[in-house]
Amino acid sequence: MQSQDKLVIEGRQPLNGKVSISGAKNSVLKLMGAAILTDSPIELRNVPQLSDVSVMSDVLRHLGVTVTQKDDVMIIEAKDITRTEASYDHVSKMRASFIVLGALLGRHHEARVSLPGGCSIGKRGVDLHIKGLQSLGAEIQINQGYVEACATRLEGREILLDTPSVGATENIMLAAVLAEGATIISNAAQEPEIADLANFLNAIGADVSGAGSTEIIINGVKKQDLHGTTYTIMPDRIEAATYMIAAAGTEGNVLLENVIPGHLNSVIRKLEDVGAEIITEGPNALRVIGDGRFEAQNIVTQPYPGFPTDLQAPFMALLTTAEGVSIITETLYENRFKQIGELNRMGANIQNQGDIAVVTGVDHLTGAQVKASDLRAGAALVIAGLQAEGTTEICDLHHIDRGYEELVSKLSGLGANIQRVPFDESGVVPASQDKAAVE
Ligand code: UD1
Repeated sequence: MQSQDKLVIEGRQPLNGKVSISGAKNSVLKLMGAAILTDSPIELRNVPQLSDVSVMSDVLRHLGVTVTQKDDVMIIEAKDITRTEASYDHVSKMRASFIVLGALLGRHHEARVSLPGGCSIGKRGVDLHIKGLQSLGAEIQINQGYVEACATRLEGREILLDTPSVGATENIMLAAVLAEGATIISNAAQEPEIADLANFLNAIGADVSGAGSTEIIINGVKKQDLHGTTYTIMPDRIEAATYMIAAAGTEGNVLLENVIPGHLNSVIRKLEDVGAEIITEGPNALRVIGDGRFEAQNIVTQPYPGFPTDLQAPFMALLTTAEGVSIITETLYENRFKQIGELNRMGANIQNQGDIAVVTGVDHLTGAQVKASDLRAGAALVIAGLQAEGTTEICDLHHIDRGYEELVSKLSGLGANIQRVPFDESGVVPASQDKAAVE
C-alpha cells in the first residue's frame, strides 16, 4: 500500500451486510511491548495488519527481539535483548512505542527511550509515566530528547495518577510486573485495553488484579515465574464504532461481528439518542440500523467509560447532517478538531472555539477533495464521504493506514462505492508526511 494513494468515494450508498471487526490496535501494540518481559516465545492471535503494528515490530527488532507475522498470527521471542534503546525515529512515528520504557526497565533495569516529541493532536506529555516509574525506584534523566532510566532494584509502591492516563497506567504496570512487592495504581485508566493487557500479563505468569477498575494491584513476581503463552487480542472497539457510525450515517443496516458490545456502551447510547437503532445479536455481534434524519446531540469526550476522544471526529461527521445544533466538547486533547476545516469544505457548518465545536446540521454534505490530518480525523472524512452527495477524494492516507485494517475491502463488502487509487497530479497535493506521533 502506498501512503500517497488517495481514496475516492462516491457517496450516498447505504451500507448493508456484515463486517468482521479486527483485533484492537491499542491493545496489540501494548501486548507486543509486554511480550519482551519474558524470554519465552509469545504467540499473539487476531493481530491486525496495520502500519502501527509494523512500526512496533521494528521497535522490537531493533532491541534484538525476533518478531514474525503471518496473517493475523504473530510470534515474538525476546530471548536475547541486545539493545535497551528505542530511537527517536521509531518513537516519533508512534507514541505507543513509548511502552517499551516500562518493559525494558522491568526486565533489564535500564532503558533509553526517545521522548515522543511534538504531536499533532496536543501536548501529550509523559510526566505521569516518568513520575510513576520514579516511584518504583527508577532513576530517570532527560538527556538530549531521550528518557534515560535505570534502577538497581524496583520496589512496589502506591501510585496515585493525577489523571487516568492510559499510557502511564500501562507503562507502570509493565515495570511493576517484576518489581519486588505490590504496586497499587490508583486513579488508573479503566479502558478495556488495560484489562486486555492485564489478562495477557496474567497469562504469562504475572499477578495483576483490578484492571478495568480505578485501582490496579500488581504483585511482583520473579523472572523465572514468567513464561510463554498464546493470546487472542480483543476486538477493536474504535474500529467497530467507526463502522457503526458509518452504517447509521448512510441509513444502512449492518451487522458487526467479533465485537464486545459492553465496550461500546457510550457510543451505543449516543447513536440511539441521535436516532439510530442498535440491536445486540448474541454475545459478539451488534446490528446498526440508520433510518432517516438524525437529531443533534451534545458530546463531551471523557476517559473510559465516557465517550472516547478517538470517536469525537467520526461522530462529528455524523452530526453534520443531524437536525439542530450539536455541541461537542473535547476535554482530552487541545488540538483534536483538525477535521473541522475539511468537513466545512464538504458543506458542513461547524464553528470552533477552544475545546468546543458547535455543529449546526445542514441538509447534506457535498463531495470534495480533502486531507486526513490524523487517524481519526481521516476516519471522519471517510464517514463524511460516504454520506455526501458526489465524489470525495481523501489523501494523506498514511494516517488512516495506522488504524483501519482492510478499510476499502470492508466498506466495499458493505456496498460502499470506494476505491484506493494512486495519487495523480490532477488530485489534491498531499502534505509532506507528518511524522508527529498521534495516538
Ligand atoms: C491512548 C490511546 C489513544 C487515546 C487516548 C485517550 C493508545 C495507543 N492510544 O493514548 O488512542 O486517544 O489513550 O483515550 O492506546 N497526559 C499527561 N501526562 C502524561 C500522560 C498523559 O498530561 O504523562 C495527558 C495527555 O496529554 C492527555 C490525557 O492525559 O490529555 C490522556 O492521555 P493518555 O490517556 O495517556 O493517552 P495515550 O495513552 O497517549
